[in-house]
Amino acid sequence: MIDSIQIKETAPSEAPMDLLLQADPSISKVKGYLNRSRCFVATLNEESVGVCIVQPIAPGVNELMNISVAPEHQQKGIGRKLLQHVILSIRDAKAERLEVGTGTFGYQLAFYQREGFRVDSIDKDFFLLNYEEPIYEDGIQLKDMLRLAITFTE
Ligand SMILES: CC(C)(COP(=O)(O)OP(=O)(O)OC[C@H]1O[C@@H](n2cnc3c(N)ncnc32)[C@H](O)[C@@H]1OP(=O)(O)O)[C@@H](O)C(=O)NCCC(=O)NCCS
Repeated sequence: MIDSIQIKETAPSEAPMDLLLQADPSISKVKGYLNRSRCFVATLNEESVGVCIVQPIAPGVNELMNISVAPEHQQKGIGRKLLQHVILSIRDAKAERLEVGTGTFGYQLAFYQREGFRVDSIDKDFFLLNYEEPIYEDGIQLKDMLRLAITFTE
């Protein structure tokens, strides 16, 4: 199955919004970064099964704003393949650095670090200050954001 996954870059307007909202519940935030970003979509038999959004935030610096795989297709390797593709695309565009913000616990931490991201800093209270509704994972409220980064020039 994983060999049948195709990854292509699309216009932000073609991004599958249902998948983006699964990873980021704030539609205003998603709309805020989408149009300034690069959009990568994973398809299986022409169906969108994964998406990843990367926004330039400073010269040579990009931030992975959203990565999401359809629930029925998770844990089959699609997310890893999509993340690897995105890291290579950003590196090939001569970027210095790719950053991502994520919760301070949960499987996503291993998901990112397996592909080379390292912990950079903590953004205390990020999820309390930036989201109107509390966000829970594994029954624990997300409060702080961990900033991770890959530096391509090291
Ligand atoms: C994060 C996400 C994109 C990963 O995509 P995926 O296709 O499920 O990931 P993969 O199948 O490539 O898994 C890679 C590794 O991640 C970990 N992983 C992924 N999903 C997991 C889960 N639900 N529970 C535990 N570990 C998980 C595993 O270590 C897995 O490796 P393994 O299969 O060898 O055990 C997907 O789970 C998702 O869309 N989650 C909801 C949105 C989200 O949280 N996005 C990230 C915001 S920070």
